[in-house]
Amino acid sequence: MSSQGIFITLEGGEGSGKSTQIKTLAAFLQDKGHDVILTREPGGTPEAEKIRELLVNRDGGDWTPMAETLLFFAARAMHIETLIKPALAEGKIVICDRFTDSTRAYQSYGHGLDPDIIESYVQLAIAGFEPDLTFILDIDAAAGLERAGRRNTDADSTEDRFEQMQIDFHERLRQGFLEIAARNPERCVIIDAQQSIDEIAAQIGDAALERISNV
Ligand code: TYD
Repeated sequence: MSSQGIFITLEGGEGSGKSTQIKTLAAFLQDKGHDVILTREPGGTPEAEKIRELLVNRDGGDWTPMAETLLFFAARAMHIETLIKPALAEGKIVICDRFTDSTRAYQSYGHGLDPDIIESYVQLAIAGFEPDLTFILDIDAAAGLERAGRRNTDADSTEDRFEQMQIDFHERLRQGFLEIAARNPERCVIIDAQQSIDEIAAQIGDAALERISNV
């Protein structure tokens, strides 16, 4: 592998199986001898995890789309500078559960914030930093919500503020992720998240290895 690492992100709507797949991908790449760091957004560093509590917990606050977006970028700026870039400089593979594409999908396609505002923050707050490779786990909105609901019942989770929103919101999210992928074909790989867990893991693993070998 080259001295500069690789930054891989996984994206998708609620219940797309992203959390399972991200762990499987990390284990797969570690087995192949790579030095892997697994992280998430919002969060990933102590400061960004504090911002996460404001954004994700049900009682974290009722943020406007603009304020919410600024908080996501504040957390992201810390995450990139203090964790992601140093790890990449050491040649590591950094795998992140959600990144800026989630801001594009949720805050713009979902909550209606002007997409140009988000792109201006990408430039201002994080200097245009983007992943090398992004997997978009695509799932029908109703199927994803049903899975997410089951998951939260099981885990008795309180991190479900976004999952309370209506199905049309989730359909806009799905459309958003697909449009982001269409605009960024070099970076994004769409994965059909209604396949079996093993099939999804194999597709993600193969595509990741191919990208790593091309760096
Ligand atoms: P999390 O419990 O990690 O959700 P999931 O398991 O679906 O990844 O909570 C993160 C929530 O934050 C999720 O609903 C998506 C949302 N989010 C945004 O709205 N914008 C963003 O930029 C990011 C990173 C996440």
